[in-house]
Amino acid sequence: MKVPRLDYPVYTLDKRMLLPAGKPLTPDTLDALIKAHNGTPYQEIPFLEHGTVYKDILHLIRKPPYHIIFGKREKRTALRTMENICSIKPVLESLDYFKKSDFYTYRHILIVFALATILSQDLLENSQDWIIEAMAGQMHDFGKINVPLQILKKSNPLTRTDRNILEHHTLAGFVLLSYYLHDFRSFSARIAKDHHERRDGSGYPMGISLRDRMVEIISACDVYDALLSERPYRLTPFDNRTALEEITRMAQGCQLSWDVVKILVSYNRKDKPNLLECKVSKEKRGTPPANNLYGIIENEDPSTGGNQDT
Ligand SMILES: [Fe+2]
Ligand SMILES: [Fe+2]
Repeated sequence: MKVPRLDYPVYTLDKRMLLPAGKPLTPDTLDALIKAHNGTPYQEIPFLEHGTVYKDILHLIRKPPYHIIFGKREKRTALRTMENICSIKPVLESLDYFKKSDFYTYRHILIVFALATILSQDLLENSQDWIIEAMAGQMHDFGKINVPLQILKKSNPLTRTDRNILEHHTLAGFVLLSYYLHDFRSFSARIAKDHHERRDGSGYPMGISLRDRMVEIISACDVYDALLSERPYRLTPFDNRTALEEITRMAQGCQLSWDVVKILVSYNRKDKPNLLECKVSKEKRGTPPANNLYGIIENEDPSTGGNQDT
């Protein structure tokens, strides 16, 4: 099996280097790192009780288009599940960091967490699995503490180097969560590593063919929310219809899971049909926003007018 290798070092939030660039992430490397962090396990703190998390989640799920997905029943179910989910101090500190420095990432983490909570109850049979899956939703982008804010908040196209640094958040999150949870096989660490992988192998960091229902739930929620969000590089976000068409296109192209996309479509319908009855239209009527710079890579060569300032 291919072993991932770090292109950049991994740092904690207080700038302590855990692993240098070039390190292969073998079980031995990760075991040694975990052993070096030989402390007592972190105290578990209820996630919803941290800071303004509860109030902020409520606010987010009441706003369009999420108010359609989170009807009365879904809201109750999501909150009841989330009430039982705990987190550890380093994760909560990263949340505080994002809330203060990059509000988009903060709200994105909260909404992916809430979405994953309800979707996983429909798609996973074992209740223990869906609680674990929902829990991991709050940590999926933890590694973004290793991405400079000027890249996370950049309003013009990323350069290839910016893009590589941004993609580093997957392996950085994997290393950080392995370290803090004392377990590199934990589901949260795997989610951090694999949530940008795709079924057709076109994702990153490893380009593996994603075949894991639990990870695929986070992947689809992640893409859906990214499309619906205002970003510095996109003046207007995707409207809900166009975002649903986009994830449908990705499911048709074998990037995202059909079942997860179907459930997202179903939650956007008033009668919320179940998975077997939900028919997804492949007709395209939406219009992607103008001036969407996502996915456009700027040339780094200054002679061609590229941007070198990161
Ligand atoms: Fe991510
Ligand atoms: Fe994300």
